[in-house]
Order: sequence, then structure tokens, then C-alpha cells
Amino acid sequence: MIEARMDELIKLIDKANYEYYTLDKPTITDQEYDRYMGELQALEEKYPELKRDNSPTTRVGGQVIDEFKKVTHEIPMLSLGNVFNEDEIMAFDERVKKVVPNPKYVAELKIDGLSVSLVYEKGKLVRAATRGDGVTGEDITHNARTIKSIPLTIKQPIDIEVRGEIYMSKASFKRLNENGENFANPRNAAAGSVRQLDSKVAASRNLDCFIYHLPDPEDYNIYTHFDALKFMKELGFVTNPNNKKINDIKELLSYIDNWTEKRSTLPYEIDGIVIKVNDISDQQKLGFTARTPKWATAYKFPAEEVLTKVKDIIFTVGRTGQVTPSADLEPVRVMGSVISRATLHNEDYVVSKDIRVGDIVSIKKAGDVIPEVVKVITGRRDGTEQKFQMIDKCPICHEPLTRKEEEAAYYCTNEHCPAKKQEKLIHFTSRHAMNIEGFGDRIIEDFYNLGYLKDYDDFYNLKDHQEELRELEGFGSKSINNLLTQIENSKHNSLERLLFALSIRHVGTKTANILAKNFGNLDKLMNASFEDISNIRDIGPIIAKSVVNYFNKPENQELIKRLKNHHLNIVYLKETTSNVTGFTDKTFVLTGSLERFTRDEAKEKIEALGGIVTSSVSKKTDVVIAGIEAGSKLQKAKDLGITVWNENTFINELSKY
Ligand code: IVH
Repeated sequence: MIEARMDELIKLIDKANYEYYTLDKPTITDQEYDRYMGELQALEEKYPELKRDNSPTTRVGGQVIDEFKKVTHEIPMLSLGNVFNEDEIMAFDERVKKVVPNPKYVAELKIDGLSVSLVYEKGKLVRAATRGDGVTGEDITHNARTIKSIPLTIKQPIDIEVRGEIYMSKASFKRLNENGENFANPRNAAAGSVRQLDSKVAASRNLDCFIYHLPDPEDYNIYTHFDALKFMKELGFVTNPNNKKINDIKELLSYIDNWTEKRSTLPYEIDGIVIKVNDISDQQKLGFTARTPKWATAYKFPAEEVLTKVKDIIFTVGRTGQVTPSADLEPVRVMGSVISRATLHNEDYVVSKDIRVGDIVSIKKAGDVIPEVVKVITGRRDGTEQKFQMIDKCPICHEPLTRKEEEAAYYCTNEHCPAKKQEKLIHFTSRHAMNIEGFGDRIIEDFYNLGYLKDYDDFYNLKDHQEELRELEGFGSKSINNLLTQIENSKHNSLERLLFALSIRHVGTKTANILAKNFGNLDKLMNASFEDISNIRDIGPIIAKSVVNYFNKPENQELIKRLKNHHLNIVYLKETTSNVTGFTDKTFVLTGSLERFTRDEAKEKIEALGGIVTSSVSKKTDVVIAGIEAGSKLQKAKDLGITVWNENTFINELSKY
């Protein structure tokens, strides 16, 4: 009796949600809806043993998790290539036409949120995951359950994965920030809400979701993308009502024009238009590059310009000591973000544009690019503006600045300037350097000021300060452990990362690669002469001099010694990596512990791609995959000159298939 009533209420609520969110045609009032929910909640409280797993009452949140579990996407979640103008759209169309002569497209709005994968088993939502790096994302099921436009139960009891975008409406974003939060844009707010351990927070944030991708359409006898959208809508997902079949490029251009004009009238932010080849068999003919499908692309809206006031001009010191002026602006919204800072590059730039404190300026932002001041609206001056004056002392350590003759920039040349040191430490951890995740600028600043981080080797000493770190605000055991794991992982990086991470003047990623490749290991590079280095193609005398100078300095030699004591890899690993392509019939050995896979999972992945996993390293081994604390097997691989992949390389290789 009671059970039957509970099921009936669930049906009524699910139907109401479907009508409201998917069909946009409600048939019951909000009051009726609330009454059903109230009744169901009361019954569930009274008879908890009867509560259904996917009851709509889970929408109110309450489930709290300890940590985000990693999720491996069976089919990698890809990103999209970008086009920025009509010519590039035409070029995309031409590339498509080379493979499929008469393509039909679907145009969609590009929702500015974060992508999500939803997995249903027998029609019930069992897992929601973020994209992550495309192969491994995070399990956010507890939060996805609170999003009303994500059905907990779909119309057919089937197994299916769909993908789409979680986003926050402009209205919810406004309300959130009015209530004291300080998110820069709706996308950040949505991402921040989804990355909460307590689902009550996500529930309170009013998130939404559009579904736009069915990874395996043929499993459901669906052969066009447009039919996939229709099918997903029939199942109860919310698809965007503005998706449109497109017959030719002319139609596409007018769709783009129309939405460029109307985008501000939408209740949510969009940052472009997505163009997809409609026919699934055509999509398959076109295929993928490593990270993006060749059958789709994203047209990005042009940079938006807005006016605001320059409140002040401030100076920051970079890792090379370069002092850069920036405009401190009256906060203003550009392309969905609130901007209060714009780069002014250098003295010449400010002087040539005659940017003054107090000026009204027009600023421009494109995508994730740092905003720039385009021009001064001189007509708005009232005489109170102050002309720009370059500083002559470092704003942090107050030592005199020098301007290099051939450059527009000023430098702080004090080796001990704390700003420079901190920036170098930040650089050391950055993505193209040692790629140690989890270090925000603030953490490095704090650790520096507390004396835990003075030089690069101190990252590897942090494990001796665990107790003290745990005492700090905002640091739980979990985050400390994660950080220390990341630091340990970085020891296996190939040499070029370390070379780039050291902040040797004139050594960028490209030069670091060339040096690592040519010398093979750090000792050889350290012993190389100016001639040895400048004889290499693409390495000029300025770089060669800078590298020799760097390694001649006793303090740098000491630093390298200390890093070696921590067993950092100092060998170039990439060369051998690129020799091995594919997994088929290749023999792999796993050693050390991987962070994102168990041994069995890694083995399964390798075998699924035709590889063979064995337990001991021999001449017959093609690749050794080395995780954390890889020991003798890694050493043996190196001795035998066998290709070594760290976990990131492994993931990269997996994502190619
Ligand atoms: S399709 C293989 N469609 O844009 C299909 N993506 O810049 C890949 N996005 O990662 C995605 N609206 O998070 C697709 N209508 C739409 C979209 C969309 C927003 C996001 C998505 C993707 C990113 C690429």
C-alpha cells in the first residue's frame, strides 16, 4: 500500500520533471509538485527501508563523499578544435569535403559550462563524471543527482552513456554572487559547485544540464547525430531547443550571425557555435586527431570590447626579474568574466598608448587570453588623469631596476629578490615544467614565507614537514598526501621538463627539448662547452652562453647535486618513447604504483589494445611503465635502454586509441 503510493509519487514527480525540463510544457503547478515531494519525503523518513535508490528526493542533496573517485572513460572524452572566422569555417568545410563529398551538418550553441558523462544502467543513473584529462575524470554522481534537468530514471530501462554540459544560468550566477560568493563567471561557478564533497552545496546552486552527445549511437540503431539528439530527448534528457540541421555553409553562417546577435538574450552563457557532421558513418570516415574529432569544430565568438576605468597602474615581478606594468581596473564583465586586471606589457606600450591612471579605456578579452587595453577614450578625460611614470626600483625588494638596451623591459637583477624566487618556484611546478598539480600560487607563497620552500629541492623535502603542513589552515591529510604523491611522481619526468623547470635564461620548452635530446642526460649537458652547445642546430650563441653560465655557477651545481640526491630522473626519455607506437603485440612491464589505475586496470587497458603484460624486464620488453617508487625494474629498463613511460605518457598513449 505505502510502497505503491511511494512509487506512484515518484512517477508523478518524474513525469512533472520531464514535462518541465525536457518538454518545456509543465502540466502541474509548482504547489502540486511541492506537495508530491513533501509527501514522498515524509514517507521516506517514516519508512527508510522503502526508499528507492533513485528517488527524486535525492535532488535536495545531503550525500557527502570523502574524496573524488577517479573514473576512466571507456571512450575518451574529446575536446573540440576551434575556428575564429568565416575563412576558417570554410577551410573546415573543405577538409570535411575531401573525405565526405556532400556533408550535412548540425549546428548547436556552445554552452559555457563543463562537460559531463552520464552513465545509466537499466535506465537508472549510476555514474556521472567530469571530463578530467579526457581519459580519467572524477566521479561527481552525488552532485549530478541534485541537478533537476538530469533524469535519475530515463524512459527506457536500457544501459546507455550520454554526454553534455553542466552549466549555471545567468540568473542563478547573479543570485549566487549577490549572496556573497565571488565567482568570476558562470562556468567557474558551475565547476566549483560540481567539485564539492557535500552534495547540499551543489543542490543549492541551481545547476542545469544540456545533453549533446551520444558516444555509441549505432548500439541504438541510430545513424545521424540529429536522430541521436531526438532519441536522447525522448529518453528524458534535456537537449538544447536551438540545435538545427544545416544543409550548406550559407545556412551555417546565418545561424552564426543570428546567435552572435541574440546570445545576450539567452538565459545562459554561450561562447560559440558547435558544428558537427550529421551522418555517423561520415563521422567515422573523418575520424579523430589525438584530442579532437575531425567531424566537428567550435566557432568561437570574437573578443568582446568594453569600457572601464583605470584605477591604478601596478607593477609585478616575474621569474626572470622582468617588471611588468598592469592596469588595476574598475571591475567589469567581459565575455562572461569579471575583469579587474589587464596587462600593459611594458613601458613603451603604456607610453605609446598614453594610458593614464584615471583614464576610461576600452579592454578586450578573447577566450582564456589575458585581457588587454586596446585604447584610451581620450574624449572622456577631465584633466585629473595622471601621466604614467615608470618606476626605477623593484616594487618588492627595492633594488634599482635596469633596462636592457635591446629590450623594452626593465629587470630586477637582485638574485635574492623574493618575488623572483617565488615566481621561479611557481614555474617549477607548472604544467610544461615538472607538472606538479595542486600548487596554487598562494600555497607556494605561503610555504615560501614559512620557510619550507626556498629552492627547488625543497619540494622534495616537503615530505619531512608533513606534521607542520597539516597544522596549516586549509590542509587536510588528503590534500597533503595528494601533493606529496604529485611531487614524488615528478621525479620520473623526462630531462627536458627539468631543464625547462630550472628557469635557465633563454631556455623555453623548445630549447629544453633540443638540449635534452642532444645530450641525453644532465651530466653530459653540464660538462658541455660553449662550442658543444652552440654547434647544435637551432641553438644560438645567446642560449649556449646562458646555459654554460648557469651550470658554471657553484650554487647551481650544488642545487643539481641536491636534486640528484632526491633521485630525480636526469635522462631524456622521450626519444625511445616515440619509437614505440601502438600497443599491438608490444610487451609491457608495470612497475611502481600508478596513481590513476590499479595494476589490473592498467593491464586490462593494455591488453584491450593488443599489448602483452609480463612481470619481468628483459631485452624482449618494449615498454616499462613506471609509477611511483618504481625500483629495480625501472633501473634495469634504463640499463637495457628500454622505453620508459611515466603515468602521464601512458595516459597520453591510451588517449590516441
Ligand atoms: S560536442 C566529441 N557540443 O565545448 C564531441 N561540446 O571546447 C565533443 N561544449 O569539451 C563535444 N557545448 O565541454 C559539444 N553543443 C556542444 C557543446 C560542447 C559546449 C563544450 C564541451 C567541449 C568543449 C570544447
